[in-house]
Amino acid sequence: MPEMRRYEGRAVLVTGGGSGIGEACCVRLAAEGAKVAVLDIDGAKAEAVAARLGGGAIAVQLDVSDARAVEAAIAEVVRRLGPLKLAVNNAGIGGARLPPEQTPLDQWERTIAVNLSGAFYCMRAEHPHLVATGGGAIVNTASVLSVVASPANPAYVAAKHGILALTRTCALAWGKDGIRVNAVGPGFTPTPLTAGASEEYRAAALAHMALGAFPQPEDVAATVAFLGSDEARATTGALYMVDAGFTIS
Ligand SMILES: NC(=O)c1ccc[n+]([C@@H]2O[C@H](COP(=O)([O-])OP(=O)(O)OC[C@H]3O[C@@H](n4cnc5c(N)ncnc54)[C@H](O)[C@@H]3O)[C@@H](O)[C@H]2O)c1
Repeated sequence: MPEMRRYEGRAVLVTGGGSGIGEACCVRLAAEGAKVAVLDIDGAKAEAVAARLGGGAIAVQLDVSDARAVEAAIAEVVRRLGPLKLAVNNAGIGGARLPPEQTPLDQWERTIAVNLSGAFYCMRAEHPHLVATGGGAIVNTASVLSVVASPANPAYVAAKHGILALTRTCALAWGKDGIRVNAVGPGFTPTPLTAGASEEYRAAALAHMALGAFPQPEDVAATVAFLGSDEARATTGALYMVDAGFTIS
């Protein structure tokens, strides 16, 4: 765990904090002194992570695809933890790995609702709180699929391309408010989301990774912690890849 304490006493929130990359972000930010709000559609998972963190961490059950619930949850976080300094908009689902013409409409709609609209609802609701704090940071979980495509899973690819567009748009709009907005782009990372991937899919992903090893959730969390900290004070609208070199090959 890091020696740095870049988040001492700062209130932060992580959506999808109950598992995988979001959980690793919660652990990392808490280790750096943050008061962490763990937001997740699975309230039990959020409770379990918050209990493990200790240090005043709280759990809030939230479906990010419900815009009103998002506003209420973020207001609750600020009420319980104090002025918001960092929001990590990370909640996401995998979508259907099917070609566009076979993608069921309900899967398209749910994937866009959670992965794209959910991130927008969060950013929109976080803005007034970050303004009230006097500035802060947002880090969105994008993907390698924000910059390259796949012949399958069109909703996921569209949502992740969209996250990059929203990151840039909000960075331009909110720089004047002292709010930095960045994104991380994980490559294939072992989490419950990717647990069902075939050996063939894993091998194909690994073959394109210059470093020859999958990124781990902790690697993504370390980059999130940097982007959200004052050390990244001159960085906004950026997408930092954590993909072991996948997108450069
Ligand atoms: N694992 C990878 O290889 C990989 C690669 C690139 C990007 N990502 C992105 O990283 C993020 C986290 O994924 P992960 O791999 O840690 O997956 P995960 O399944 O381990 O964690 C996702 C969490 O989000 C929660 N969640 C799902 N729908 C939600 C909703 N509607 N509202 C609130 N919470 C919700 C889940 O309950 C879960 O706790 C996602 O945005 C995913 O698209 C993952």
